Amino acid sequence: MNVIGIDIGGTKIKFGLFDEEHQLSRHTEIPTPKKNIIGTMIETIATLTLGKEIRGIGVASAGIVDFSKGMITRATNLPDLEHAPLSNRLKDRFHVPVYVDNDANCAALTEGIVGAAKEVNHYICATIGTGIGGGVVQHKQIIHGLNGYSGEVGHMTLYPDGMRCDCGKKGCWERYASGRALEDAIHSQPSLSAKGYTPKDLFVHYPHDEQCKQIIDTFIHHLSIGIINLQYTLDPEMIVLGGGVVNATGPWWDSLIKEVNTASPIKVNLQRAQWKNDASMIGAALLVKNAREETLEV
Ligand code: BGC
Ligand code: NA
Ligand code: ZN
Repeated sequence: MNVIGIDIGGTKIKFGLFDEEHQLSRHTEIPTPKKNIIGTMIETIATLTLGKEIRGIGVASAGIVDFSKGMITRATNLPDLEHAPLSNRLKDRFHVPVYVDNDANCAALTEGIVGAAKEVNHYICATIGTGIGGGVVQHKQIIHGLNGYSGEVGHMTLYPDGMRCDCGKKGCWERYASGRALEDAIHSQPSLSAKGYTPKDLFVHYPHDEQCKQIIDTFIHHLSIGIINLQYTLDPEMIVLGGGVVNATGPWWDSLIKEVNTASPIKVNLQRAQWKNDASMIGAALLVKNAREETLEV
């Protein structure tokens, strides 16, 4: 029987239908509606599953998720979903188990089951995209924390008097080491913004172009501070970096590894994620599989 995996982002929602071997058999995406997100999701799921029986739905979302209630409690970009009865409405409509978790937690699950962290039990996965997300895994289980804030590593304070973040604090890690931070850096350099540069171009021209080198070196520096903080918090076996930004090819990755292991007195086993843009959607579907295995074990 099939499982649905959904990834809710600020701009789009991705839906995947996975078969028993966990292969993606159908998928679709829609722009994130401003209102009635759950109703729109229900219609999309109904169309996607036409003629197929499903045994569960997993949902990944940016923001703070109350895993036990199946509800998003805080999402700056998705006010329509805050405290909305997400899992209950999907359960009522489709009569299957529904699980909701944070997008980076789901990406961490994907890496742990079918990705870079397959062979380890204790790891942290940080996703470097528009913001920075994180998933903390101990004994192969995602740690949710008291209020679902576990792994909200993008909002660790790097600079107490630093730039204001959407979360209400100042100087958060994601203000300095995310895709958005790179976009801000481009906008602050008229010659780069005149050329229409995107973050990807910065990596392409690194380290030959002096301006690109400066921006990426600063980015690597900020990224490495956060990574070392994570190593000092849990001393995991591995830190996996995922998210769109990490897709960038070129020599920057080696510079990052070098910077981290030069600056950190303890060894950091830093690995690139194996799954790119679909990691959270795949992980959302894996929530269903994981839950079933746990019940079978008892
Ligand atoms: C949010 C996290 C999310 C991450 C990636 C951050 O800004 O606080 O909840 O996991 O972005 O989407
Ligand atoms: Na998380
Ligand atoms: Zn913040």
